[in-house]
Amino acid sequence: MSANPSHRDSTFPHRHLLGIEGLQPHEILGLLDRAEEAIEISRQVEKIKPVLRGRTQINLFFENSTRTQSSFELAGKRLGADVMNMAVSQSSVKKGETLIDTAATLNAMHPDILVVRHNAAGAVHLLARKVSCSVINAGDGQHEHPTQALLDALTIRRHKGKIARLTVAICGDITHSRVARSNIILLNALGARVRVIAPSTLLPSGIEKMGVEVFRDMKEGLKGVDIVMMLRLQRERMNGAFIPSVREYYRYYGLDQEKLAYANDDALVMHPGPMNRGVEIDPAVADGPQSLIREQVEMGVAVRMAVLEALAAHLPNS
Ligand code: CP
Repeated sequence: MSANPSHRDSTFPHRHLLGIEGLQPHEILGLLDRAEEAIEISRQVEKIKPVLRGRTQINLFFENSTRTQSSFELAGKRLGADVMNMAVSQSSVKKGETLIDTAATLNAMHPDILVVRHNAAGAVHLLARKVSCSVINAGDGQHEHPTQALLDALTIRRHKGKIARLTVAICGDITHSRVARSNIILLNALGARVRVIAPSTLLPSGIEKMGVEVFRDMKEGLKGVDIVMMLRLQRERMNGAFIPSVREYYRYYGLDQEKLAYANDDALVMHPGPMNRGVEIDPAVADGPQSLIREQVEMGVAVRMAVLEALAAHLPNS
């Protein structure tokens, strides 16, 4: 798999990015190639490629975010867009205005791109049908987080030179994770072998049908793995107790040096953030030499620039 942009058709035939599901492998690779160029732009003194000059991007986040919202804001600005971050907590949503009415109101102001995060799975798809601009899913409930999976793939490819035939273990709260879902779809599409490692209570029934190998014992699951992707416990989406105690969870499923030693010697550690140190990951591993966690954040800006640029081709009068 090459990172050379000249090898691939860079056209992206979709008006929205609502999920990884439905994307063709060459479309995913095209976005990763485009992101390689965006990394170079972001590392320059003048971080600007004004393909969105004159365009309006609204970030509409109904759930908290540090990484996704700030990187979409930087990405839009680096492409020359006027970026507005809608403060949902101070908006009329708090007075009972619905998602659709909020979207229709914003749509009347003629944005070109709406970046949406919502706690309900499917909310972003619904919204995309109600507005005339392009919509990007920045995470919808337990469903998908497509730009996270793209930035994870970009990070992996830059270190391993490929995605195909790598063994990737996704560990932790699989049931409540949109990151796991988007990553499973993307990694399978690009030919990786995907494992999930979790206690039974955090594994959705029928997960095998997504093309993953299931492990309940972390040491067993980590044997021969190239990439270890850790997930936090998504307590805000839990309804009831899924683990006996944090202490016990950390003992069996927290990634420390001892468990990491079961993976390949050159295995790399990832985490989408936010991390809960001492719950799913030992600080020594999170900050250790095998960790790519900070680099994932840099790749987040690049991938979001790539997605915005790809969608720009579908904007009116582009
Ligand atoms: N990975 C991720 O989505 O982080 P934020 O919730 O901070 O955006």
